Amino acid sequence: MKMKCLLAAALLCVVSCVTGLGAQHSTGPSANLALTPPMGWNSWNKFACNVSEDLIEAMADAMVKSGMKDGGYIYVNIDDCWQVSRDANGNIVSDPQRFPHGMKAVGDYIHSLGLKFGVYSDAGSHTCAKRPGGLGHEYQDAIQYAAWGVDYLKYDWCDATTQDARASYANMRAALDAAGRPIVLSICEWGTAKPWLWGKEVGGNSWRTTGDIQDRWGGQEKWPDGSCCSNGVMGILDQQVGLQSYAGPGHWNDPDMLEVGNGGMTDTEYRSHFSLWALLAAPLIAGNDLRNMRPEIHDILTNKEVIAVNQDALGREGERVAKHGDLEVWAKQLKDGSRAVILLNRGSGEQQVTVNWEEIGYPGSIGASVRDLWQHKDLGKFTGKFSAAVASHGVMMVTVKP
Ligand code: GLA
Repeated sequence: MKMKCLLAAALLCVVSCVTGLGAQHSTGPSANLALTPPMGWNSWNKFACNVSEDLIEAMADAMVKSGMKDGGYIYVNIDDCWQVSRDANGNIVSDPQRFPHGMKAVGDYIHSLGLKFGVYSDAGSHTCAKRPGGLGHEYQDAIQYAAWGVDYLKYDWCDATTQDARASYANMRAALDAAGRPIVLSICEWGTAKPWLWGKEVGGNSWRTTGDIQDRWGGQEKWPDGSCCSNGVMGILDQQVGLQSYAGPGHWNDPDMLEVGNGGMTDTEYRSHFSLWALLAAPLIAGNDLRNMRPEIHDILTNKEVIAVNQDALGREGERVAKHGDLEVWAKQLKDGSRAVILLNRGSGEQQVTVNWEEIGYPGSIGASVRDLWQHKDLGKFTGKFSAAVASHGVMMVTVKP
């Protein structure tokens, strides 16, 4: 008996070492983080390097005043360019002109509003904006972030040369945990080393699946200099196909932050962008100026029924279940057994789009109640399928409940 136990224990150890399962973060400060996709705001898409404590604190105020906080947006994340150098002891130094009161003061302010505080760094020697990166300073930086009250770290991949991605991110997670504070780790490796295969095991709470989002509707295009690639919303969407099984509570595919409200798309397109990101169980990180949103943009970002699909406790990522040219059906199973469904029309004119119950895992013979999540209206009971006219670049987003 004893021998059997020893053998079983040895086998378990081998299995966990080989598969990396032993590295799961079921205990320690980072356990139970991001059980639903993180929601918040980040400075990059709208402000790029133009960040300051005034801007960040104003955005935190706006997050509360606009009702975004009530909608579930919690993280206020400063992206690149808050940092300028390292001091003689190797400590990271924030920009003294732009952040005159230092990073802890910004974090304290954000916390005083009941929100959480995020910063950005990079696994290589430099960030993408050529600021000092984290390489060789992981434990030192983690202690500093914890002392500032940081709750979320976006960790980028510029200037990482020959580093191994999986090892680099595992190292940063270990450093954050050693610092003793629960900190969401947002892996920003652009999908290069297929982070969906190892992101969960190294304790990442999300991982970017693609290059940067651009504020435009279309697909992937070469940059003007011929290099690859600029990603519009549809280009990013196509790159999510097949990744759905890697997402779940605590660990999410990240198709990049939202562009809703930044001006490059129509409101119809922004509604589609937001609906699709919600269904993909993506982190919902707004990237617009929250101080002066048009009502249409506000209503997109705070649609509670669409957000509820994103935040559903089952934690399934939605997937494409049908494609007929420009017409697609995307579906996500919800905890109560119902489905959230998006009818998407990528074409240039209005078209009828249909979801058949078999495509979403129901027998065609049953009746199910359909509710429109943008009109906030019950549409009635349908048997076998549901069809709707969908505007060009638009969506119909519904729940289907047998
Ligand atoms: C990379 C990331 C972006 C942003 C910039 C900052 O491009 O993918 O999301 O953080 O760096 O320089």
